[in-house]
Amino acid sequence: MRFENKVIFITGGASGIGRATAERVVAEGGTAALVDLDGDRARQVAEEIGGGCIGLAANVADEQQVADAVRATVAALGGIDGVLAAAGHAEFGPTAEWDADRLMRMLSVHVGGTFYACKHALPVMKQRGRGAIVTIASTAAVMANNNNVPYGAAKAGIAGLTRQLMFEALPEVRINCVAPGRTITGMTTPLMLARGGDMEKGEEIFGAAIPMKRMGTADELAAAICFFLSDDSSFVTGQTLVVDGGETIS
Ligand SMILES: NC(=O)c1ccc[n+]([C@@H]2O[C@H](COP(=O)([O-])OP(=O)(O)OC[C@H]3O[C@@H](n4cnc5c(N)ncnc54)[C@H](O)[C@@H]3O)[C@@H](O)[C@H]2O)c1
Repeated sequence: MRFENKVIFITGGASGIGRATAERVVAEGGTAALVDLDGDRARQVAEEIGGGCIGLAANVADEQQVADAVRATVAALGGIDGVLAAAGHAEFGPTAEWDADRLMRMLSVHVGGTFYACKHALPVMKQRGRGAIVTIASTAAVMANNNNVPYGAAKAGIAGLTRQLMFEALPEVRINCVAPGRTITGMTTPLMLARGGDMEKGEEIFGAAIPMKRMGTADELAAAICFFLSDDSSFVTGQTLVVDGGETIS
């Protein structure tokens, strides 16, 4: 029961890794605010998970919307003890196809969205005297993929932001980053279906480059995230943990 009496603020909470983390938090006695671009789905998922979770609509690229979501969480759930900044979208393609608007959207959702969640939740946690933040990068932050410049730059930015925020967050709040490899979620399902025709074949194709010969699950990512969100990692801060079945070192 690592999250008893704890409230976790989760961006991108309506799906995938964010949702799986909320489920684990509730299973271990806590509750969560699921903050998502798709507010209806966030509210529906909050109801499905139970445990007092709430769903809130916000575009994390908009600072005011993130600030409002933080305020609404404190008003409804009494505070914030942890943040998971998981909202994001994946888009790939040759650099020549990216105009300024598309590039800025990628950077403002990922780097901006992570920055705003940290900026507005940090004072709440500092006032409470405790807290933990987990940001979400990607293996794209540490390895090269073809046609992946804006996403890779955004994710490397998140890993950098995590390291730089460590001093301001301390002594009350720890901040760590999880860098997922290929994980089966709402983000990758359409890609798997497009490449494989069905999910099984899709995973076989995407898993071929991974030493463990399979993709990760959202639950496996949630396990690493919950380590950082909980007191199990009470002496760990500023780190990036790659969770990828061995891909980046192979
Ligand atoms: N699935 C993977 O293979 C993988 C690999 C590396 C990194 N990641 C990262 O993990 C994080 C979670 O993704 P996931 O795989 O669970 O995908 P997902 O699509 O299942 O969930 C992402 C959620 O973020 C929400 N979202 C997107 N843009 C938003 C915005 N501007 N404001 C608020 N909410 C927004 C979506 O509505 C969705 O509910 C993302 O940051 C993603 O880049 C995923």
